[in-house]
Amino acid sequence: MNFELITTDTGSNARAGKITTAHGEIATPIFMPVGTVGSVKAVTQDQLRNAVQAQIILGNTYHLYLRPGMEVLSQAGGLHRFNGWDRPLLTDSGGYQVFSLAANRKIKEEGVVFQSHIDGSRHLFTPENVMDIQRTIGADIIMAFDECPPYPSEYRYAKKSMELTHRWLDRCIQQLKDTQPAYGHEQTLFPIVQGSTYKDLRAISAQEIAARDCAGNAIGGLSVGEPEQDMYEMCGLVCDILPKEKPRYLMGVGTPWNILENIALGVDMFDCVMPTRNGRNGMLFTWEGVMNIKNKKWATDFSPVDENSACFASRDYSKAYLRHLFAAGEILGMQLASIHNLAFYLELVTEARKQILAGTFTAWKNSVIGQLKNRR
Ligand code: GUN
Repeated sequence: MNFELITTDTGSNARAGKITTAHGEIATPIFMPVGTVGSVKAVTQDQLRNAVQAQIILGNTYHLYLRPGMEVLSQAGGLHRFNGWDRPLLTDSGGYQVFSLAANRKIKEEGVVFQSHIDGSRHLFTPENVMDIQRTIGADIIMAFDECPPYPSEYRYAKKSMELTHRWLDRCIQQLKDTQPAYGHEQTLFPIVQGSTYKDLRAISAQEIAARDCAGNAIGGLSVGEPEQDMYEMCGLVCDILPKEKPRYLMGVGTPWNILENIALGVDMFDCVMPTRNGRNGMLFTWEGVMNIKNKKWATDFSPVDENSACFASRDYSKAYLRHLFAAGEILGMQLASIHNLAFYLELVTEARKQILAGTFTAWKNSVIGQLKNRR
């Protein structure tokens, strides 16, 4: 993987760059749709490529390991072959899902013992086997196995947890040295900064992560319930320590305004379930603000959700029709809302990149952010 830093904004730390992977290029800043089980819910790969203009999508180690399992993914030749997504792919390590989804988990130095949320079966994740699993899935970018502590966490717990994440990181790095990619293409490890909402821990973690000299770095443990200001403070502090010449990925964030504010702090990559999960619930993100398409007020509004959009889901269907689909419980409603929201998120980061390249990012961000938060 290669990262080319093209421009840094003069009025902020926003950057425009380009990541090159074995499965193609990614223009940054970028938003990555989440395909937890190897499927971005309700959206086809063709729609992701053409309507959404997605450049990279995510998969989850935890889910893919449990189902379809490593035997199927190995026989398929990896997730790219299995799901037909031929562009860049990133897998999260399970270091988040195992803490949010699995039952009866026990954290030990060796790893985490947990029970599957599907059938209750018992499993052990270690830094070593999580690297092996991500080799078998075959994503271009793979994440270190970390512990994401809950919010709030006591200082002592947050510190112990962060130190464990650093020790696990060294085992991940060693395991990747000792093994080869399963399908011949390069796989790049991103380590994850932790440290909860403690400034000194975040600074230590960012320095420890930077010292490992990996090709890209991630920031975890944010957007887990802390106030937005704390997220920005931690993210800004960490970005100032992580090396400039490597991409920075803020995990699990967030709303459109969260994304613009964190781009301003120096983040290059984002993922979040919000556009798809909230979309399936009738929440639509637009340049004019957030709307609940189920609301009665849209019943006779025959204008498109966004007439200026290049995406068919935003341009070719009226608000009234979309509201009707949700009222009638039609699955097409969830599908169109998911595609619209993802296309909007991609348009948002594409526009941010244009503004960074033009030297107008900060003024543009300040002019649109109020509108984005508007409740329509
Ligand atoms: N997704 C959102 N936050 C996190 C995190 O802290 N760690 C991991 N592995 N994934 C995440």
